[in-house]
Amino acid sequence: MGCEGSAIDQFIFKNTELATAPLAPEIQLHLLKPTSDLWHAFDPESTASDIQRPYWAFAWSGGQSLARYLLDNPDLAKGKRILDFGSGCGITAIAAAKTGAASVLASDIDPVAIAAILINGRINGVDVDTVCEDLIFSENRGWDLILAGDIWYTTRLSRHGLHWLRKLVGEGCEVLAADPGRQFSPSRGLMPLTTYSARSVPDVDHPGFQEVCVSRVLPSADSADTSLGVR
Ligand SMILES: C[S@@+](CC[C@H](N)C(=O)[O-])C[C@H]1O[C@@H](n2cnc3c(N)ncnc32)[C@H](O)[C@@H]1O
Repeated sequence: MGCEGSAIDQFIFKNTELATAPLAPEIQLHLLKPTSDLWHAFDPESTASDIQRPYWAFAWSGGQSLARYLLDNPDLAKGKRILDFGSGCGITAIAAAKTGAASVLASDIDPVAIAAILINGRINGVDVDTVCEDLIFSENRGWDLILAGDIWYTTRLSRHGLHWLRKLVGEGCEVLAADPGRQFSPSRGLMPLTTYSARSVPDVDHPGFQEVCVSRVLPSADSADTSLGVR
């Protein structure tokens, strides 16, 4: 982006409107507004391919489902030190903070997402710490529970991300993921817990409701296995 924090905030306010997602109406978020030029980032016909996709401006169906699961099962997050990996707009991190987590760290590799998470956290009256870093392959920094909403959309996230998460599970951390059946969804290493019918807001890539599975990530059977049966 090449702009200061307040300029990033202005960029977020200019391109978004306050909205809620159907599965978690108790959380307010700055989400992409229909008049924003950023829509072109998802248009396959657009020549504006240099626009970085603003994943932070959406409440994806996976993150929404994980938020709903936490809000309905508050004991899951209560008192825990939590990482929301690939946090985007921060919906899952905010749900974790609302249900009494001891601490919540939201990670993303996009600095605009980090600013959006801080703005959205403030609107909802919760404290969420942030880190703009690719944490794949990092050591556990004290997390009891890691949340991963709608992240299986690249081979890197599916292969290396899942391998990393399963390693942390083997070391005693709990990991919950939620996924609407993305292109690179793993076909093994996950134990389904429940499903939701959810619609991303705005539903730019998949109009309408999708079935989203919330799963527990299982420990690696073989820590050398990085294939993980990606579809
Ligand atoms: C599809 S969005 C999902 C956001 C949010 N979890 C939700 O469900 O609404 C995926 C997010 O993961 C972030 N991301 C991609 N690779 C990452 C990585 N290696 N580490 C942290 N975040 C990453 C992207 O920038 C994006 O914000």
